[in-house]
Amino acid sequence: PWSAERASGIIAEHTHLEGATLPILHALQETFGYVDSGAVPLIADALNLSRAEVHGCITFYHDFRAHPAGRHEVKLCRAEACQAVGSDKLHREILGRLGCGWHETTADGSATVEPVYCLGLCANGPAALVDGEPVAHLTADALEAALTEVRQ
Ligand code: FES
Repeated sequence: PWSAERASGIIAEHTHLEGATLPILHALQETFGYVDSGAVPLIADALNLSRAEVHGCITFYHDFRAHPAGRHEVKLCRAEACQAVGSDKLHREILGRLGCGWHETTADGSATVEPVYCLGLCANGPAALVDGEPVAHLTADALEAALTEVRQ
């Protein structure tokens, strides 16, 4: 869990670096799984930046999460070959069912959805990764089943 004290220690280890913001954010995310909003003033103070600058950095890079990730990681391929077999419509359906958007976590914390751009499964799209496992010919039902399966 998030600890301001631990975060301060991590920040202190990196302040000597040039352009320390990114290494700090990476280190915090690695430690806590996300960058808590409580880290923003700590980083701003340590690096003499405004809170808005730090916040901007977190939101600019989609690598950083502002909230803990869901229990399952769903990566949906948005690249062209998958688009050609209807991934856009499928993704709208999936996000609708999950009730979240790209880069977001479902309200029950079961899954976080991220876009990816080609998984090398182009001939078998729409493609996805669920907790790192490739899924070909994805449907909304198959995803729901996959999320239920890996939940057990
Ligand atoms: Fe989706 Fe290649 S375009 S796997």
